[in-house]
Amino acid sequence: MQITPGPGPLGARITGIDLGQPLADADRRSLLRALGAHGVLCFPAQRMEVDAFAAFGARFGALEVNVANLFHEPGHPEVMVLSNMVENGKPVGLNDAGQGWHTDMSYSTDVALANILHAQRVPVRHGKPLGETQFRDMRAAYRDLPEALKQKLAGRSATHDFEKFWEEMRKRPGSRRKPLTAEQKARKPPVSQPIFRTHPITGETVLYANPGYTLFIDGMDAQESGEILDFLFRHQDRAEYLYAHHWAEGDVLMWDNIGTMHNAVADYLPGEARYMRRMQVMASLDYAALVA
Ligand code: SIN
Repeated sequence: MQITPGPGPLGARITGIDLGQPLADADRRSLLRALGAHGVLCFPAQRMEVDAFAAFGARFGALEVNVANLFHEPGHPEVMVLSNMVENGKPVGLNDAGQGWHTDMSYSTDVALANILHAQRVPVRHGKPLGETQFRDMRAAYRDLPEALKQKLAGRSATHDFEKFWEEMRKRPGSRRKPLTAEQKARKPPVSQPIFRTHPITGETVLYANPGYTLFIDGMDAQESGEILDFLFRHQDRAEYLYAHHWAEGDVLMWDNIGTMHNAVADYLPGEARYMRRMQVMASLDYAALVA
């Protein structure tokens, strides 16, 4: 297995490994270390069935079954389908295009270590792949915060809510999302998260607040909370934290869901097919011990 870091703080290419085969403990250790160091790992040209994909994900932690999971691979509720494709007049997946910046599972008490996507169909126009996924480095975002703000927010928490993001997505033109049911809301009530979090692999401090799900800073006057969150969201937006993944069919992309936030770009049309298999790996193992 070769790990080739990209030029920036995020992104590495992993070659010389077939993810369709059982993952050895030593390779898992190397991949966890690479995830902590580079944030976004691309394994190009992977061919595997859904069973093998799910088995790969499960080596890193418990796999989440999404609270609003309408679309998943048959027999695998933990493998969601993200797609704009329609068959017999019916959508085949959740269309997540143009979602805005967010961190998956920050709305959940138990947070996710990683997302893993396997690209089945990638829209291409005039030879250029569309529907890139963008990432921002929340380790660097924390490092660069003004010292006074680091001190002010140290030990504080913010409330995150799944419904904030869901309702934003419902407002988008063409959205087929229905309002969350009372049962879905009860399963994912708003939760408090530390604004600065210790990364479970590297031990680094990261900024853990995102425009998609973060509502307010707990125990703070509403105006001050709004101003600070606005500042944090603008700060996260800096160009030097950005990394964009340009997809090719067969890519498996694994990203750190604690040290990065992400955004899927909606620059493709309904007839330009995109189809991703997706798993969310919960941070359910002792990663510090696994990488030691
Ligand atoms: C996701 O948020 O997990 C999906 C990103 C993408 O569709 O590129």
